[in-house]
Amino acid sequence: MRKILVTGGAGFIGSHVVRHFVKKYPHYEIVNLDLLTYAGSLTNLIDIENAPNYRFVKMDIRVFEEISNLIIKHQITDIIHLAAESHVDRSITDPNAFVSTNVLGTCNLLIAARNFWKDNYNDHLFYHVSTDEVYGSLQETGFFTESTSYDPRSPYSASKAASDHLVRAFNHTYGLRTVISNCSNNYGPYQFPEKLIPLIINNILSQRSLPVYGQGQNVRDWLWVGDHVMAIDLIFHKAISGETYNVGGNNEMKNIDLVRSLCNILDRKLGNKEGTSEKLITFVKDRPGHDLRYAIDSSKLQAEMNWSPSKMIMEGLELTVDWYLNNKAWLQSITSGEYLNYYKKHYSN
Ligand code: NAD
Ligand code: TYD
Repeated sequence: MRKILVTGGAGFIGSHVVRHFVKKYPHYEIVNLDLLTYAGSLTNLIDIENAPNYRFVKMDIRVFEEISNLIIKHQITDIIHLAAESHVDRSITDPNAFVSTNVLGTCNLLIAARNFWKDNYNDHLFYHVSTDEVYGSLQETGFFTESTSYDPRSPYSASKAASDHLVRAFNHTYGLRTVISNCSNNYGPYQFPEKLIPLIINNILSQRSLPVYGQGQNVRDWLWVGDHVMAIDLIFHKAISGETYNVGGNNEMKNIDLVRSLCNILDRKLGNKEGTSEKLITFVKDRPGHDLRYAIDSSKLQAEMNWSPSKMIMEGLELTVDWYLNNKAWLQSITSGEYLNYYKKHYSN
């Protein structure tokens, strides 16, 4: 019987992971631990909230005692760790929040897991979900592989890099069974509209300007969240302890092309005249230290676990737009209060 603690399970990727594991593995018990910050919402999980193998606990990974007691109380056998402060722009404004949750929070979980599992490490796994941003920024060519040197360049990526190093240190020093995956930019349903794709969709729906940083020449490799969840499932069940796996979408796109595609898709679906939404595009001040390009080489995962991304970006964008159009109430509930304050502050200069 596996009792899996998923941290950050009320967030974007975490809620997809929780739903997938609860539904696919009824014989596993899934404990979803989340602080419900601005980025987490239980409305992401309404469809499974009463499942017999699921429970939610509101908790802060920065509080060691509580984490430790929870792991003992629920006799946790494995951890899939996604809880984090995850937005680069916020990390530029408030780096300490990223150090405390992403670095100290991860270290708390590692210590609590080590204490509880130390007599039989072999039966347990600590799975850390990380980002390709730890590898830094690429120029026009090349890809990040698992052996690319770490070169984080934002407070967010520096805090994730630190947490990756801690996970490896616990594997090396104490023998804790660990695995790390570093993925590219996820997109799909339930993503909080501070990130590029849902922000653009939300702004088109509310007829607000579409802020493109700099000249929109930065490139991201877009990964359909469902493909990421399939990779997490495979890695969780098959990975060798101490290993790292890169997960990418094979879908590189310049920001400006992505924003224009979203404009076209929404104009078509909303019955607007062609070119209507593009008029909202506004080039704004660039993000400080803005990484030019991320691109992932996932051939290790493809070779070892026969994983490959199933969705090309244009198909995924259509599905994402459809989801946001069909879930306007979710979008409205998520974009009140704190979101409006953040938006005003961030985009007013
Ligand atoms: P998210 O911001 O949508 O969700 C993060 C969740 O963590 C939220 O539910 C939040 O309430 C919770 N949380 C934050 N601080 C907490 C704390 N102190 N204690 C307990 N819970 C806390 O993030 P996401 O996009 O779903 O990303 C999940 C993970 O994947 C993160 O570790 C992130 O670094 C990584 N990642 C994300 C992407 C992406 O494109 N979204 C890409 C690469 C890696
Ligand atoms: P984001 O979704 O914040 O992810 P990340 O910074 O982790 O890659 O941003 C994706 C890209 O879009 C990034 O190059 C920054 C850019 N961007 C904009 O141009 N405008 C925006 O309003 C946002 C939020 C991002």
